[in-house]
Amino acid sequence: MQIDLVDRDRYANSGPPYDQLAWLRANSPVHWHDGEPGFWAVTRYEDVVHVSRHSELFSSARKLALFEELPEEQIELQRHMMLNQDPPDHTRRRSLVNRGFTPRTIGALEQHIRDICDDLLDKCSGETDFVTEIAAPLPLYVICELLGVPVADRDKLFNWSNRMIGAEDPDYATSPEEGGGAAMEVYAYANELAAKRRSAPKDDIVTKLLQPDEHGETLDENEFDLFILMLIVAGNETTRNATSGGMLALFEHPDQWNRLVADPTLAKTAADEIVRWVSPVNLFRRTSTTDQELGGQPIKADDKVVVFYPSANRDTTVFPDGDVFDIGRSPNPHIGFGGGGAHFCLGNHLAKLELRVLFEQLARRRPRIHQTGPARRLRSNFINGIKELPVAIG
Ligand code: HEM
Repeated sequence: MQIDLVDRDRYANSGPPYDQLAWLRANSPVHWHDGEPGFWAVTRYEDVVHVSRHSELFSSARKLALFEELPEEQIELQRHMMLNQDPPDHTRRRSLVNRGFTPRTIGALEQHIRDICDDLLDKCSGETDFVTEIAAPLPLYVICELLGVPVADRDKLFNWSNRMIGAEDPDYATSPEEGGGAAMEVYAYANELAAKRRSAPKDDIVTKLLQPDEHGETLDENEFDLFILMLIVAGNETTRNATSGGMLALFEHPDQWNRLVADPTLAKTAADEIVRWVSPVNLFRRTSTTDQELGGQPIKADDKVVVFYPSANRDTTVFPDGDVFDIGRSPNPHIGFGGGGAHFCLGNHLAKLELRVLFEQLARRRPRIHQTGPARRLRSNFINGIKELPVAIG
């Protein structure tokens, strides 16, 4: 079989190459893939989990966790982000920010999230684009709520976030300079936000993150600004695409939508199934720290190793009916938020809460929603995204 797991046109036309991924899982689960540089494509669930849980063998810091090879000056900035660090640097930073993302802290946002969802649903009627009206604003407004950003500043953040992402796609394409400019504006904004909370603490996550932990450790100014930047990038695009991908999956499986409308409490298991089915993040990269074997395949120190989440999430050894979209699936040990280990998604509770509440409210309040035209997909091999999903909201 012809293998090309990074062809952006393929992702734009029909989403992840599930046929190739299934073939690789069966025939060449740790597969040498041509590229600049070439890399090992890891497609089985078990191997993705192994790579994710052994940062001493598969580093995020040696060459970053991003798939793309970046110019030296951008690598320098990226190195300071948690995503691209290994323990022990990563451990310290992660435990400081974990304080703001416990299930309890996030659970306390449920009513705010419900209000945001209801507000978005109230505002739209007739024919519209689901991505623009619902899927894109929801995670952004929630992050604003989380950070205590005033409603008047929401559009500013929305604009910065759009300019920083989607550079691979001609419809969104912002130049690296424009993306960098937006990042600098976010930095400045984060700085101001920190200064405000330091002088007038509130009962919110920002205040919590700025306070020393029980060992007297704090995030320094630079670390705080970088963290806010990462939240805006990591928390937006992923949740936006889980939401629009979930809506599309429900349109494509009307029996599942009817099930949800009949029993909106199924939104809880539906949220996980949507993350498994859509796998909004296609891949992450690690770098082998030593000569070793992975899934029986010898690999060398410094080799590029890339894990494919959409593949692991349909691995029939874990999900015998993995190609079935089942909103009641339980248990659902998907790894759409990562295969466990140090970098497991910090925002997983938040993302699941957003998905649960939105689909619950949609099923209750807009049961007649339907698709009115083809979805347009993002031209990216990193994010499994949907740019446009025309709907009629009854
Ligand atoms: C890391 C997926 C939502 C913040 C990750 C990773 C994945 C992922 C695959 C990498 C895991 C690894 O390398 O092992 C997703 C998906 C989301 C989502 C599918 C939505 C459905 C969010 C949200 C936030 C967030 C809402 C924050 C508000 C982060 C951060 C990291 C991360 C900060 C880096 C953690 C670290 O390096 O320690 N996410 N994510 N994510 N995510 Fe998410």
